[in-house]
Amino acid sequence: MSEVVAIVPGTFDPITNGHIDIIKRAKNIFDKIIIAVAINAGKIPLFSFEERVELTKRVVESDSELHGIEVKGVKGLLVDFARQEKAKVIVRGLRAVGDFEYELQMAFMNRRLNSEVEMIYMMPYIKYSFVSSSIVKDVFFNGGDISKFVPEVVIEAMSKKLSERSGKI
Ligand code: COA
Repeated sequence: MSEVVAIVPGTFDPITNGHIDIIKRAKNIFDKIIIAVAINAGKIPLFSFEERVELTKRVVESDSELHGIEVKGVKGLLVDFARQEKAKVIVRGLRAVGDFEYELQMAFMNRRLNSEVEMIYMMPYIKYSFVSSSIVKDVFFNGGDISKFVPEVVIEAMSKKLSERSGKI
């Protein structure tokens, strides 16, 4: 049987321990995982596209349980990227019912665009069910501790952003 390639997509602005939890769960099931750092046209990210790709790569390098996973930046449609990578599966995390409606819309649209790729949803640990990239940024920029929610390399990148911002004020 041929290997099953799965894509874990997201804006990853920045990647959190919640995302990493889902990525590790997917790694236990599928033969090959590609993290797709994509563009959500509805979001204005803190980190540029290139910074998000770079930061996600550094997170993968810094965690031995993630070794072997590829990180790629995606500028077009996710389903076209899936076709190009011969990926049969797109994996997303579902934290709470609140995620469901948005995910359902994306799943139906992706299926319309490419019926050969299947969306699969996984639940993260309950301890990550309230974590989101936005909330992590909010806590951090207001002086809170985010060390339980993101890897060390992400904290370093956010500290750099903070000092760049303070330099501009
Ligand atoms: N644990 C904790 N938090 C999680 C999580 C988990 N398991 N899974 C998701 N989240 C959070 C994220 O932190 C993020 O929070 P935020 O909204 O506060 O930033 C939010 O849930 C979802 O963000 P993320 O997973 O990074 O991605 P997204 O929802 O922005 O991703 C894309 C959407 C990129 C997959 C989608 O826009 C896309 O496919 N773009 C490519 C273009 C395309 O094909 N468009 C058509 C799509 S139908």
